[in-house]
This record gives sequence, C-alpha cells and structure tokens, in this order.
Amino acid sequence: MKFGTKAIHAGQHPDPSTGAVMTPIYQTSTYAQKAPGDNQGYEYSRGTNPTRKSLEDCLAALENAQYGLAFSSGMGATDAVMKLLQPGDEVITGNDLYGGSYRIFTKIFTNYGITFHFLDLSDPTIIEEYVNGNTKMVWIETPTNPTMQVVDIEAVAAITKKHELTLVVDNTFASPYLQNPIDLGADIVMHSVTKYIGGHSDLVMGALMMNDEDLYKRLWFIYNACGATPGPMDSFLALRGIKTLHLRMKAHCENGRAVAEFLKDHPKVEKIYWPGFTDHPNHHIAAKQMRDFGGMISIVLKDAGLDETFRIASNFKVFTLAESLGGVESLINHPATMTHGSIPKEIREKVGVVDNLLRISVGVEDIEDLLEDLKNALS
Ligand SMILES: Cc1ncc(COP(=O)(O)O)c(C=O)c1O
Repeated sequence: MKFGTKAIHAGQHPDPSTGAVMTPIYQTSTYAQKAPGDNQGYEYSRGTNPTRKSLEDCLAALENAQYGLAFSSGMGATDAVMKLLQPGDEVITGNDLYGGSYRIFTKIFTNYGITFHFLDLSDPTIIEEYVNGNTKMVWIETPTNPTMQVVDIEAVAAITKKHELTLVVDNTFASPYLQNPIDLGADIVMHSVTKYIGGHSDLVMGALMMNDEDLYKRLWFIYNACGATPGPMDSFLALRGIKTLHLRMKAHCENGRAVAEFLKDHPKVEKIYWPGFTDHPNHHIAAKQMRDFGGMISIVLKDAGLDETFRIASNFKVFTLAESLGGVESLINHPATMTHGSIPKEIREKVGVVDNLLRISVGVEDIEDLLEDLKNALS
C-alpha cells in the first residue's frame, strides 16, 4: 500500500458490531473477563485499548515497521527508550537537539548513571571516536531542532550495526511522509505525534516504531509498567489527524519552499536554515534520505538584539507566537527563551541557538497571506 492509503486505512476496520466506519472511541478503563484470564486480549487500558491499538498499527505502517507504541507525549516515549539502559551505559547523541530531549538526558538520566556525549553528527565518522565498551545507544534527530542540521541516517546505521548499538531516530521534524529511518537502518523511530502526525495542535502524544520483536516486548513492558500511555479520545484524534497527513505534508513543503525563498535574500535576515537550499551543508544527504524538505525554517535576524527579536516575533497577524510545530497553522517560536530555554546559553550559542534566532513552522494557509504577514512583521 502507498503512503496516503495507509494513512487513511492502516490498522482501521469497520467496527464489527455496528459497521461504524470510523474507529470507535473505547472510553473504558477495564474489560469484562469470562473467567480470570479468559479475555479477548484486553484487560486494562493502561496496557491495551482497542482505539489505541488501531492507532499503533497505523503508526507502525506509516514507518514501514512491524510494531508501534503510542505514549502520552513525545517525552514519555523518550523516557521509555532511556529505560532500556542500565547505570554505566553511554549514549552518543547530537549537539543540536530538542531542548526537552537535552533536559531529560542531562537532568534526569545522568542522575541514573548514564553518560551522554553530545557531538556534531554532520560527519558521522566522529561516532567511532567515542564508542567504547559501555556505549549502548546512538540517538539522533534529523533535521535537527532548530538549526536544521541533517544527519546521514544510513551512515550512522552502518556504524551502530558494526558495534551492535541501538540506533534511535527522532523523526518528528521530517514526519514519516518525508523520511523512514527504519528503511535506512534505524532500530527505533521516535515521534512527537503532537507535531505533524497529529497535525492540528489539539493533542500531545508520542510514539515509538520498531521491527525487532524482542525490542518491542522490552518497550511494551516499560510502557505498561511505567504507564505513560495515551487515552482513547486522544488516540482517536491522532487517527483522525493522520488521515490527511500526506495532503498536509505536501502543502507544508510547498509553502515551506515559498517562505524559505522569500526570506533567503530578505534584508532583515542574516542567516537562514532550511535543508532544501543547495548551499545547506548537508543538502545532498537531505536530498538522498528525504522525499522533500519540509516546512520548518529557522532564521537569524540581522543586527537584532533581544528586544528587536521580541518585537518582530510579536508582530505577526497570521503566524502565532507559540511553542510547538507541525500543525496546520503557522507558528513562530523563539528557541532561546521557549523550546530551548532549558539549555545553558553558552551551550546553545555554540550550535547557533542565538538570541536573534527565530524558528518558523510554516502551516498550510494560503501562501499569499503568509508572505504578506512575514513582509509586514519584518518591516
Ligand atoms: C524534535 C522533538 N522531539 C521531541 C519532542 C517532545 O515531544 P512532546 O512535546 O510531544 O513531548 C519535541 C517537542 O517539541 C520535538 O520538537
């Protein structure tokens, strides 16, 4: 099945009791058993729920994976992956990550005896310099949040396979429509479903997709034992959002390109980060592993201090100043004080998350209105 057909149908069947075409919202915490243990595969909704199961099967299909697990947030999914590790283990990861990932690694899992190495992975050969007997996992984000660095997933997978490490790819920025890391050798794909997959800024959710049965069983154990699983209403909303994922992503990419081109030579823009430009340092890798370049763009404002950056960020009428990304509506974000506020200034500035950087999530509104709004806000 092709992507759009999977988005609409995978994991979903008309309800056998009524023929309802849309997956019912099984708003129940528990399930009747004929005798103890004699059930239809459902016991208690922390572990299994039919609406969530449909969603998980659909999510797995979108990433060409055997198994999917939905979590109550992207961070809940990240937390579950980290619980695969033991004290003394080491993780190699990128130096430009979503601020919440950096925070959970440095402020939570470091305290449990796990060591993280934050590296510039634009050249993956650096990984081998840091691999030792304690290394267990490589965690990458590509494109990265917010400087849109592109990491070569296939090249990283060749290294993780050689050293028997688990490769996890946070595929939130690309979405499964643009990139499928499992096809490129990843072991686990992680998503903040909150973003493009949900697509309507009306839910918070995470997901993990994988092929290996043993890994799935270990992650399912953590998911059920720790309990960060989403309810049926949110699972339904995610399923409903996914039905238009392919249509939305086409529009995000088209508008993203138009906005990037508009901003590239704008007198108020000092630097622009978008992997679709041929002069982006890893454009050739983006062109190889992604089907298009997406609607996420970051810009550095020319000669702007914090006050001027705040003035411009608050100057929009169609774009909304807000955290998050990937919804149908266009958003502006100030990473230094919003999404990446938990990263110390000297560390974030080293990777380009400066005070005059703005991140743009280009939505699917009419492009003329978006360009007019950008023109006015930057004036
Ligand atoms: C790349 C990336 N990964 C993970 C997350 C965390 O997801 P959630 O907010 O759903 O917990 C985010 C949230 O912004 C993100 O942008």
